[in-house]
Amino acid sequence: MPTYARLPLRFERGEGVWLWDTEGKRYLDAIASIAVCGLGHAHPGVREAICQQAGRLVHTSNLYRIDLQERLAGELTRLSGLDNAFFCNSGAEANEAAIKIARKYGHHRGIPNPAIIVMQRSFHGRTLATLSATGNRKVQQGFEPLVDGFIRVTYDDIAAVKALDDPRIVAILVEPVQGEGGVRVPAPDYLNQLRTLCDERHWLLMLDEVQTGIGRTGRFLAYQHNGILPDVCTLAKALGNGVPIGACLARGTAAAMLTVGSHATTFGGNPLACSAALAVLQAIERQHLVQRAAELGEEIIAAIRARLSGNPHVLEIRGKGLMIGIELDRPCANLVPLALGEGLLINVTADATVRLLPPLIMEAEPTERLIETLVPLIMRQG
Ligand SMILES: Cc1ncc(COP(=O)(O)O)c(C=O)c1O
Repeated sequence: MPTYARLPLRFERGEGVWLWDTEGKRYLDAIASIAVCGLGHAHPGVREAICQQAGRLVHTSNLYRIDLQERLAGELTRLSGLDNAFFCNSGAEANEAAIKIARKYGHHRGIPNPAIIVMQRSFHGRTLATLSATGNRKVQQGFEPLVDGFIRVTYDDIAAVKALDDPRIVAILVEPVQGEGGVRVPAPDYLNQLRTLCDERHWLLMLDEVQTGIGRTGRFLAYQHNGILPDVCTLAKALGNGVPIGACLARGTAAAMLTVGSHATTFGGNPLACSAALAVLQAIERQHLVQRAAELGEEIIAAIRARLSGNPHVLEIRGKGLMIGIELDRPCANLVPLALGEGLLINVTADATVRLLPPLIMEAEPTERLIETLVPLIMRQG
């Protein structure tokens, strides 16, 4: 079905930060296949883990214990500070699990019609519940009736959340940095303030880290910049470096909401996907990639600012770690094919924001190439 406006090229092979198309042309993947391939392409550790596991056991049903799934849950709870994990296959599914946890929590507290606070410009996925939670009419249009039980407020506006006085509210679902919404970085204490409010009002703080997680923002999880713990945290994208896997992590009361028979998915947490994710986590630690994302992100943002500040068409250059947005004063989707011509893969989101999500393994030469290619293209945009 024609659900994507695909660009007219196909990739045949990848290695590290590079991709090659069928004509043999090389491209720098500065969006890591949309925040998925944090370790770049054909990472030796991940390749080895997948190949070995494929030869041993790809799938067993969740009717039985799965060693690799238990190990992955152990690693993720250690790294996140949360208590347990439910495994699925995508970001939307991880958020579905979070939404179901919030609803169960509501019923547990005697609230028959629980509601979740969500944000304008948010993105949580394309299933019916997650597109209903998403703050973008384009995503919802034509799929009404939407799923009920979401109350929307402005992002990064703590007063708007405080002003809500609705007994149905049981949780907040929010991205620590909005990705699809235009790489929007909230005030440094926004998550802390949400945490305090949730504690006061007995709401669950549920963080969608599908895009920000797994080292992307310069901490393993973005909330670790704030020294807080959420009640629920969702992951997908970079967790398997391209092997589909999602996870919903939870803590305390939230961790006890899903019980035997209340939620499931056939493929969730199968041995193959878990072996890939374990290899990803191991590589991130061994290669010190979280630290690298923090340092490299600062470097790239500083370099782009130095070259583009003062340009009348550049409204703002913002980011956290290797999640970087350059907002222009006009729609700029035309930059994508222009960059492609120069062998550079970028993305434009929210119409006018160039989004960069480079692999965490970037080194000096591709970083320089990224800046030297992108900056002149943006300068010519005026
Ligand atoms: C923050 C966020 N949540 C959820 C999703 C949905 O993930 P998936 O496409 O794996 O369903 C995305 C995808 O872009 C995302 O950025």
